Parts: sequence; C-alpha cells; structure tokens
Amino acid sequence: MGSVSLNIGDGTAKFKRATVCSSAVNILMIFSVISTNLFALYAFTSSPKHQSHVLHNTHKNFSLISEHVSLILKEIDSSQKKLAKMEKELLGYETIDISRPNIANELKFFLQHHQLPLGKDSRTGITEMVASVGHSCEKSADLLSQYMTYKVSGPCPDDWSLGQKLILRGCEPLPRRRCFAKPVSKVGLSPFPISLWKPVSEKILTWSGIGCKNFECLNKKKLSRECVGCFDLANGYENQKYVKATSKSDFVIDDVLALASGGIRIGFDIAGGSGTFAARMAERNVTVVTNTLNIDAPFSEFIAARGLFPLYLSLDHRFPFYDNVFDLVHASSGLDMGGKPEKLEFLMFDIDRILRAGGLFWLDNFFCSDEEKKKTLTRLIERFGYKKLKWVVGDKVDTAGSGKSEIYLSAVLQKPARG
Ligand SMILES: *[C@@H]1O[C@H](CO)[C@@H](O)[C@H](O)[C@H]1NC(C)=O
Ligand SMILES: *[C@@H]1O[C@H](CO)[C@@H](O)[C@H](O)[C@H]1NC(C)=O
Repeated sequence: MGSVSLNIGDGTAKFKRATVCSSAVNILMIFSVISTNLFALYAFTSSPKHQSHVLHNTHKNFSLISEHVSLILKEIDSSQKKLAKMEKELLGYETIDISRPNIANELKFFLQHHQLPLGKDSRTGITEMVASVGHSCEKSADLLSQYMTYKVSGPCPDDWSLGQKLILRGCEPLPRRRCFAKPVSKVGLSPFPISLWKPVSEKILTWSGIGCKNFECLNKKKLSRECVGCFDLANGYENQKYVKATSKSDFVIDDVLALASGGIRIGFDIAGGSGTFAARMAERNVTVVTNTLNIDAPFSEFIAARGLFPLYLSLDHRFPFYDNVFDLVHASSGLDMGGKPEKLEFLMFDIDRILRAGGLFWLDNFFCSDEEKKKTLTRLIERFGYKKLKWVVGDKVDTAGSGKSEIYLSAVLQKPARG
C-alpha cells in the first residue's frame, strides 16, 4: 500500500529520501485541498430538503444550523482521521501513532520505509528497508517524541537516562538519531591487560542522570545482589570474586574451566555488574561480553574502561547473537526477571539457543526467595536435559547485612548435543 502511494509522486521508484518525502507531502497536500473543497461543497449542497427549508423559511432556525455545523465538524474529524491513516500507511507503521500531536519530525523521518532502488533484492528477498524500533515504543510515545526532539547534526541533549527509561519500558531497540552524543574525554585509559584492574578515573564516566556522583557513593550502595561495592577494584570482595570461594555455592573459574577441558574461548555474562567476571576470564584468554544497562551506575562505561566489552541491552531483548556460538554463558540472580514463569522460560530458551552443544551454562548463586522458587527453577533447568557437572544448593548470610540466611543455587551445566 505504502509503496504504491509513494510512487505516485513522480512515477518512479528512485531511492531518494527527498523524492519519497515530497511525494508523500504532495499527496497529503492534494488530499487536504480536495477535502477542504469537499467540506465547502458539502456545506452548500448536502441535505437539499433541509437547505431549501431554511432558504424558504424567513426565520433562521438556529437548531438546524447547529445541526449542520456539527455534521461538518464530524466530516472534518473523519477526514483528519483518514489523513492520519494515509500518513500511517505511507510510513508503513501501524503500531506507532504518528498522527498524534507533538510527534517529532525526526521520528517520522526515521520510521520512513525506503524502497530498494532496484526493486527486490535477489539475495535477501526484501524490497524495502524498514527502520527497527521496539513495538512497545508506542506505549511511551510522548517520551519517545521527547527523545527524538533535537537539532539535526547538532549535539544530542544529555539524555541517555531518558533513552534507558524507554528501554526499560520495552521501547527497545531505540530509534537511531542524527545528533552527536555528549562527548566524554577518555583521558588516562590504561593499556590492556593493566586496564582490567587499574582503578578507573571518575572523570571519564558520565554521572548525569545517576543519583551518585562518585565511586565513594556507589561503593556504599547495594546496587544489586551481584554488585555490592563492585566498582571498588582495589579493596573489598570484588577482586576475590571467581578466584576465591567464600561459600560452597561459589565456584572458582579455574575449576569450571577444568570441567570443560579447554575449548572455552568465548562467553557471555548476563547482568555482569562491573565486568569482573569478564576480567577474570580475560586473564585466562577467554573473551567475554558483559551484558548490562546503566541502572543507578555507569556500568557500561566502567566495563569499557577496563578494556572489556559491554553490551547495552535489557534482558527482555532477544540476545543479538547467532545460534550455537558461545562456549560459556554465565548468569546469576540478574536472571530473575520476576513475574510469570514463562518469562524466565523464554530467557532460558534464548540462553540455550546461543550456547553451543558441549558448552557450559554457569548459574552462579541464583537467589531463590523460597523453596518453591528453587523447585520451579530446578524443574525448568532439568527440562533442557543438561548434564549437571556441578549442582550446589547453599545458603549464606545476606551480604548486605540483614543477617538473614538465604537460599542460593549454583550449577555448572553442559548443553547436550540434541538430535
Ligand atoms: C427548527 O427546525 C426543527 C427541525 O426542522 C423543528 O423541529 C423546529 O420546530 C424548528 N424551530 C423553529 C423555531 O422554527
Ligand atoms: C594467554 O595468551 C598469551 C598469549 O598467547 C599467553 O602468553 C598466556 O600464557 C595465555 N594465558 C593463559 C592463562 O592461558
């Protein structure tokens, strides 16, 4: 539908944004001119019975006039709806209502479909390029429009936290923007592998939109179950993680790698805090991608400053990796997304998908709020038919100091070669 309309403009399907846009604008213009004329015509010619009645009646019947006015208004309203529908069809997006007021122009430009210049591409079979944006963006259209309001080729507003807010509301992926991200001078980065443990300068991180403004504040906060003082690489527990066990549910990396007897070269760490798992793996020549958002702390920048690979993605997003590619997936309580059991199931299937046969899934101190939770998780894991190389249910005292004993499940599981 959209493609046909787009070609009316100049009769060609040339790949030029200006052409596509101007034909779209042309159509809208023509439509509005026609519809305006139609209103006028309608006002004078419709309901001839009533009209003549009015004309022949010397008394101006007010209720009749208001009836007509309301009919005309109704017609205008329905024309506006038709116009919005046409615009939607031109853009090809049914889910994002670009007809509502205050929708940023840049959003419309971004969503515009582009016909391929030579028609159907024989290799991929596609005929047009479609911008990728999360369907739930519709729910947050006002925020999204705010996000897409900027000066083209100018500096972007300092609004990364607005972007993250959208992501957390399911607006993922975000639309691309044509503005320059706020520059941060990354002076004093250390060379690899010194960078893994060298304290990162506060000055090279972005603190806008974050409650804390320095490491001292961050390190006093329990950012998550996995990140208690996790930005302090010199003192505390962070530099002992994965190399020193403090409870029976802590496995050390060398023991786990020994189970795999070589062959662990690339891995994925889910909700990996400040990147320490990847750092310890890097020391063993294993490349690990760390998935994290910047919730209450500049995780992504910190991980990157350590010379590690941060992946800025929510857990609701399908992992952007191909099937059967990872030798190892590491996850801890961050895996728990709450809500319905199906949610965790979808996530587990995605983990299974990216893990190769023979690869390891290391579930690291998964917090089970109660026995029932542990049973549900166990049943779920067992359905995948993984070989249990390690399986430990332990309890330990809450690290944040509530003093209560809590149940944790740790396991190293090997993906079977299926079928
Ligand atoms: C005005 O028109 C309506 C409908 O034609 C009629 O019912 C009504 O009696 C009229 N009123 C006057 C004041 O003429
Ligand atoms: C990692 O690789 C380097 C360079 O190939 C090598 O010198 C080093 O021994 C390796 N380290 C480990 C722990 O395998």
